[in-house]
Amino acid sequence: MRKAFAASLSQVTALRRRCIAWRIGGGGTGVDIAPALAPLLVQARQPICAVRCSNGNGNGYDNNNNNNPNHSKAYSTYSAGGGHANATTAAATTTTTGATTGRPAQSQSPLGPVGVAAALAAADAARGGGDRGGAGAENEEGRGGEVRPTLWDEFSLRDRVALVSGANRGLGLEMALVLVEAGARAVYCVDLPARPGKEWAAVAEYVDRMASGRGEVGGRLEYVSADVRDQEAMWRIGEGIGDREGRMDVCVAAAGILKAHTDCLEYPAGEFEEVMNVNTNGVLYTAQAAGRQMVRFGNRGSIILIASMSGTITNRDHAWVSYNTSKSAVLQMARSMACELGPKGIRVNTLSPGHIYTSMTASYLDTQPDLLDKWSGLNPLGRIGRPDELRGVIAWLASDASTFCTGSDILVSGGHHAW
Ligand SMILES: NC(=O)c1ccc[n+]([C@@H]2O[C@H](COP(=O)([O-])OP(=O)(O)OC[C@H]3O[C@@H](n4cnc5c(N)ncnc54)[C@H](O)[C@@H]3O)[C@@H](O)[C@H]2O)c1
Repeated sequence: MRKAFAASLSQVTALRRRCIAWRIGGGGTGVDIAPALAPLLVQARQPICAVRCSNGNGNGYDNNNNNNPNHSKAYSTYSAGGGHANATTAAATTTTTGATTGRPAQSQSPLGPVGVAAALAAADAARGGGDRGGAGAENEEGRGGEVRPTLWDEFSLRDRVALVSGANRGLGLEMALVLVEAGARAVYCVDLPARPGKEWAAVAEYVDRMASGRGEVGGRLEYVSADVRDQEAMWRIGEGIGDREGRMDVCVAAAGILKAHTDCLEYPAGEFEEVMNVNTNGVLYTAQAAGRQMVRFGNRGSIILIASMSGTITNRDHAWVSYNTSKSAVLQMARSMACELGPKGIRVNTLSPGHIYTSMTASYLDTQPDLLDKWSGLNPLGRIGRPDELRGVIAWLASDASTFCTGSDILVSGGHHAW
């Protein structure tokens, strides 16, 4: 097994220095990566720091990363001015009043004061009080010092680790890229092909160049070959990432399929199951794979399930009963998971895009010349969307900019629903 993995590793390493492909499943010939993987990966790439420290720039983690599966102690705390609050600390403060802001302690931002609270802290500091903390609140002169925006700290994913399914291309790949751009240390892209495609390789290369261009150690994309319908394989992938990275922060479940039109009264059982298995079951297994690691490391996290506007509306003139049903199920899955996982500090939301041109929709748009105009005319903006128009919402949902958002469906449809 280890040999098989090593062979595939060397092939891919030759293809691209910073790309590692994991082969999972594959009709019974797959490789059980979990035990064999960690030493190989560590050899092949830069050593992994077992204990990561607060980065001290307003958004770091203070992470005691001892991989204890019993999570009997606090693993992650935020230090003054930045970081990610620990679920235990956050939950224990429901009745305590914040010492410095007058707000309940449970309502303090894990990043320290931001927004109006930061402005008030700065005003305090300027008056010589300086007891609220916050960006620029305290300064060498004690008053009138420089203050700085904190918004990008709230969106920062610095040092975080993500798993994205369906990320060899299309919306999943776009979402993987934005996570790295927001600062993620590693984004694991799970998809079916044994080797990543040209699009993925180009994006990974772009990420490498972006990092070296800044003269910093940047984030990285990793490719993992797997089928989201295989629950065991998905859990193993999650464990492998957890063993290697020591944390899991973000999950985007984007793998999905759309079939040709089929009359709902004739819909064959096998095809219906196939769509449900990928679009619904596979989304659950992906969320489980990441969520189990979020619980293991106690670093909270954000799970984003990619549903569709087709989960709440029916696309006119399209006989897509399996797809629409599968996406509706994902909406309810997210609400259920959000309620179960909220107390653990894990947020679960759905993102429901409208019509966007990708390989999935190209199979319709490229074969039916009038369809682009028809779909464009179904929303007030008069056009279909681009994959990059989901970058902002993914960055928001994945980050501390959305810490009070869970169990929600975010519609990004060009206003399709408004009519
Ligand atoms: N494009 C749109 O207009 C649109 C609108 C709403 C929702 N969505 C949803 O967004 C997601 C991404 O779609 P897209 O438009 O990028 O399509 P796409 O076909 O370009 O990408 C889907 C990816 O999922 C992968 N995949 C399929 N089955 C898999 C499996 N069993 N295991 C692992 N990976 C698998 C595919 O290989 C592919 O890379 C899907 O869930 C889709 O339903 C798309």
